Amino acid sequence: MTVYLNGEFLPKDQARIAPDDRAFLFADGAYEVLRAYRGHLFRAREHWDRFDYSLKALRIASPANTDFASIASELLKRNNLADAEATVYLQVSRGAAPRKHAFPADATPTVYAFAAPFANPVEKWASGVKVITVPDQRWARCDIKSVSLLPNVLANQQAQEAGAHEAVLVRDGFALEGSLSNFAVVLDGVLHTAPRSNYILPGISRLVALGLCSALDIPVKEFPVAEADLKCAAEAMLFGTTNEVMPVVQINERKVGEGQPGPLTRKLQQAFRDYVGECQRRG
Ligand SMILES: Cc1ncc(COP(=O)(O)O)c(C=O)c1O
Repeated sequence: MTVYLNGEFLPKDQARIAPDDRAFLFADGAYEVLRAYRGHLFRAREHWDRFDYSLKALRIASPANTDFASIASELLKRNNLADAEATVYLQVSRGAAPRKHAFPADATPTVYAFAAPFANPVEKWASGVKVITVPDQRWARCDIKSVSLLPNVLANQQAQEAGAHEAVLVRDGFALEGSLSNFAVVLDGVLHTAPRSNYILPGISRLVALGLCSALDIPVKEFPVAEADLKCAAEAMLFGTTNEVMPVVQINERKVGEGQPGPLTRKLQQAFRDYVGECQRRG
């Protein structure tokens, strides 16, 4: 596997990162994950903009002449993924420096990226998945895509141990988003999803899905979903780069609706798939 590290493409087993890199010591960095559909980077512009937003929020300047789009394309090529289903991961940390909390005066940010093959979760798309609800133990800047993901990791592990696909994070009585996805429910025929705020990541798939809702005349309310209302949801779903539109058929021990992916979810899921196909064709 060929990875990218600080201006070089090299075999992964030759990539070396300093032990005092601040990503290692402080989780001091930001990242992005993109889907590559047979070489086409899905909604790349939005991912680069969000990366820029996260890095600016953390006051990390990515090194000059770092072109994430070229790095991503080159990684796909060098790993024979240019015509395959893949994901691309990119990370920038504040760099290596003696361990002190405050920013080092002269550290050079570390840039690391890799591409990996990806298999669409076709069976789960068809059957729908179970989710569990867990307390949201994250900080108050969930809008930054920071590598500091321990609460997400713990929540996701809890889901896995409960035989669930995802953990939906509940803060102050509201089901805000998943550990690595956004979350929506259908209540009285209206798709409800948490509004953009510092308490959710502004997901690119969420953005695409909401655009498709508008094109399909599916009514949307960007409004926090009360945990107490989950039992009334006729349908539920997740949005994310690796999930696209994933039907949720069970929340904790309770079935959602009939326990099958609902009609609105199916419509949106198909529209998302069609949109992906269209983007691929357009190149
Ligand atoms: C916490 C969280 N929310 C939502 C998402 C979905 O965002 P996107 O659609 O851009 O992948 C992610 C993706 O990793 C995430 O980590």
